[in-house]
Amino acid sequence: MKIVVIGGTGLIGSKLVRNLTEQGHEAVAASPASGVNTLTGEGLPDVLAGASVVVDVSNSPSFETEAVMKFFTTSTANLLAAEAAAGVTHHVALSVVGTDRLPDSGYFLAKLAQEKLIKESPIPYSIVHATQFFEFGKGIADAATIGNTVHLAPVLVQPMAADDVAKAVGKVAVGSPLNGTIDIAGPEQFRLDEFIRHGLSATNDPREVVADPEGRYFGAKLAQRTLVPEGQAQIGETYFKDWLDRSLTQNASAAKAN
Ligand SMILES: NC(=O)c1ccc[n+]([C@@H]2O[C@H](COP(=O)([O-])OP(=O)(O)OC[C@H]3O[C@@H](n4cnc5c(N)ncnc54)[C@H](OP(=O)(O)O)[C@@H]3O)[C@@H](O)[C@H]2O)c1
Repeated sequence: MKIVVIGGTGLIGSKLVRNLTEQGHEAVAASPASGVNTLTGEGLPDVLAGASVVVDVSNSPSFETEAVMKFFTTSTANLLAAEAAAGVTHHVALSVVGTDRLPDSGYFLAKLAQEKLIKESPIPYSIVHATQFFEFGKGIADAATIGNTVHLAPVLVQPMAADDVAKAVGKVAVGSPLNGTIDIAGPEQFRLDEFIRHGLSATNDPREVVADPEGRYFGAKLAQRTLVPEGQAQIGETYFKDWLDRSLTQNASAAKAN
């Protein structure tokens, strides 16, 4: 099967292209780096020719409210129109658990708008809602840092490894369209401040993490369960501790090699 991965050079996209290729599919990574731009439509007709499935794991270069809304609505509309013209029969998109539960987050609103366009389009679809990636921990900390202190609300998170995300999305991409949404999450729940404190201390980051009920998540106020799945979720196999150990070993080997 020819499967086009929009955002195929990104964190999830590159793992997904590898996973699909290993399964024997013709997986094509598409992004501005390979001359495909979903914001302008450039390169879409050529890359989609002969494709059965499109997986959208692209991300907005800016998380600013207006820019991120423009990115996900314009690029999704362009992509769906090009897929209809090319005869694509399954559109898969990666989104975030809780998109419909955080209306004061510009990013979550933009992902919700992306999902609405997909559901309204005639192309059969599958939406995968993932929780926060382990790899995104530092980004969460950076956005919540004031001075040398990271302010995070002690709400629940159930983060997961990017490898497990790519595996789950790969499985959905080669299956029949769900015309619905599935949730995927990590094997353990943490408090958000606890998850970030653990990650920063393992990498000798000197910042102090405080449990602050007024702490914001990229500007938005979280409720206790905003970021965790509400119903059933598929659970990834990687534990945070094992992922941290593996990442630290890999970083140490890379540093030695340089
Ligand atoms: N971070 C999390 O914890 C989390 C949790 C749940 C869901 N998600 C979702 O996961 C998805 C993938 O995230 P990620 O961290 O893997 O992203 P990423 O590493 O930032 O990669 C973004 C990809 O998007 C591509 N891209 C940017 N602008 C584009 C454009 N105009 N046209 C086509 N492609 C474009 C980039 O291409 P170039 O390399 O060529 O610039 C890159 O391949 C996102 O949709 C996000 O909402 C994230």
